[in-house]
Amino acid sequence: MTKLRIDVITLFPEMVVSIQQHGVVGRALQAGLAELHTHNPRQHSANEDGRLDARPYGGGPGMVMQYAPLRASIEHCVGRSQHAKVVYLSPQGKQLDQAAIAALAASEHLVMLCGRYEGIDERVIDSCVDEEYSLGDYVISGGELAAMVLIDAIIRTLPGALGHELSAQQDSFAGGLLDCPHYTRPEQIDGQQVPAVLLSGDHHKIAEWRLQQALARTYLRRPDLMADYPMSEREKRLLEAFLAANSSTE
Ligand SMILES: C[S@@+](CC[C@H](N)C(=O)[O-])C[C@H]1O[C@@H](n2cnc3c(N)ncnc32)[C@H](O)[C@@H]1O
Repeated sequence: MTKLRIDVITLFPEMVVSIQQHGVVGRALQAGLAELHTHNPRQHSANEDGRLDARPYGGGPGMVMQYAPLRASIEHCVGRSQHAKVVYLSPQGKQLDQAAIAALAASEHLVMLCGRYEGIDERVIDSCVDEEYSLGDYVISGGELAAMVLIDAIIRTLPGALGHELSAQQDSFAGGLLDCPHYTRPEQIDGQQVPAVLLSGDHHKIAEWRLQQALARTYLRRPDLMADYPMSEREKRLLEAFLAANSSTE
């Protein structure tokens, strides 16, 4: 498998590279599971001071990032790569989900474009961008945090990134359900007890309880996910048993 290369086009590269210093993603990058590069489009500004924003045609508030420096940045990052995919982080894009992360993680080369101000000249999107992705239906000040979310979510799925290979497979969304609840030491605290089954040592029962909890959580919290989840007969029985046992607390 070819090593994933990620280039991020940003006015704030120091923000994006900070991801290399912490936790799972930092360790994975240091171990060389993926390569992260940043590129500041100010290098391609026509202005001596590196400015690349200009007033919007038609008037209105705010500034817009100009076409030429962004196009030059994209061309620089794509280089001779045959497989580069250019992703613009935008509130108007398709909402990111685990399926999109899995598809992006299978890429060889991702070029992520971070907007600032009112956004970027639409002609960059029309002529250079392959896909647009959004964090959700809200607006943040720049694409850097969105790119960092995307990088983190992608890198933790790469083989070898997590200490335990099953961790990512058991996370929420990986199998179409939310994750089950987790507990750690001590067994009792502030009058709250760890569910007895988790202390039983019976691995079959523990797996069944976890699946039942995941089904119930997804059913109660995310009916949209549940509607798409192909429940087996065994899973239906587990969910029904949970609902019957908890009917007074629903
Ligand atoms: C202030 S926003 C511009 C918002 C734009 N005027 C609009 O309403 O669609 C500046 C930049 O932040 C990034 N951004 C803002 N919200 C985002 C979101 N929900 N998901 C991904 N990127 C976002 C984009 O790169 C965007 O170009």
